[in-house]
Amino acid sequence: MKPRVKRALLSAFGLLTLAGAGLGAYAIPKIRAFDQSMAQVYDIAPPAIQRSSDPAVLARGKHLTESITACATRDCHGSDLAGGQSIDLGPLGTLSGPNLSNGFLTAYSDGELARLLQFGLKRDGTSVRMMPVQDFNWLPDSDVVALVSYLRTIPRIDRPNGPMVVRPLAKILDRRGEFIFDVARHVATRPRELAPPPSPSAEYGRFVARLCMGCHGDGLSGGRIPGAPPSIPIPSNITPDASGIKEWTYEDFIKLLNTGVRKNGLALNPFMPYEALAKMDDVEKRALWFYLRSVPAKPFGQR
Ligand code: HEC
Repeated sequence: MKPRVKRALLSAFGLLTLAGAGLGAYAIPKIRAFDQSMAQVYDIAPPAIQRSSDPAVLARGKHLTESITACATRDCHGSDLAGGQSIDLGPLGTLSGPNLSNGFLTAYSDGELARLLQFGLKRDGTSVRMMPVQDFNWLPDSDVVALVSYLRTIPRIDRPNGPMVVRPLAKILDRRGEFIFDVARHVATRPRELAPPPSPSAEYGRFVARLCMGCHGDGLSGGRIPGAPPSIPIPSNITPDASGIKEWTYEDFIKLLNTGVRKNGLALNPFMPYEALAKMDDVEKRALWFYLRSVPAKPFGQR
């Protein structure tokens, strides 16, 4: 090999090694911090709650699992709550919501289940991975009772759970605050804010819209989910910008929520959980609409 070529190769190798070492120095502490945080046992006692068999309470619990909390959807815990389908998030990992209808939940006491829904803690007091508790921990205690009561009544279906894998990139993005996998840490850093009683208002819609933010971004302007592979569709802009829902009417919005068909006539990718949005009641849908119309318009992709 000519010395010049060899020198060039050596320096390229040197640069790559340096880049690799730099990346390692950046990534390794973040990955370690994530793992340590996930191993932390939180000192939060399970609340004392009283399960109910009142049909109105059970109906409220069913409604919540199918709408606002989106538990009972294809990509979360499955439409029958017996386990969601696995979502391959490429370099981030693979997500599969577990089966809530058999052994797994029966091991939880009612208080432990309430604590899971409010603080994102598993039975052993460590954090759950990725389950978006931050989207619904604004529900009042009476709704938590309704959820727990209803979950005790769902029929048992034995279906094995899919894989749940959180890869290093997911851990780094979590520590950078770009995506929440370490749920309890995130929930613990914010005071729990309770919603006002349901009403068709932007004020209530601000809470319902939390469900949208994991995908459409905190500012609701959409753009690629950080670290997600190209197989995951890109969430749209749902602010009142020209690239968003500026020209939409309430009728366009309701049609999308109920049928998954957009204003332009194109069907939505089912990754967008309109299954849950369709099940929202009239007050929730209107509240959501008023809130989306009230947020600052932003160009697409600012998340
Ligand atoms: C799991 C991720 C996810 C969640 C949660 C989610 N969306 Fe979406 N949404 C998407 C994706 C992805 C698209 C684009 C789908 C496509 O291109 O087919 C989309 C598209 C849309 C559109 C279509 C916009 C257009 O220009 O056609 C609207 C409206 C919308 N979402 C509203 C909502 C609302 C309101 C919520 C919360 C109540 C919500 N979404 C929650 C992923 C999500």
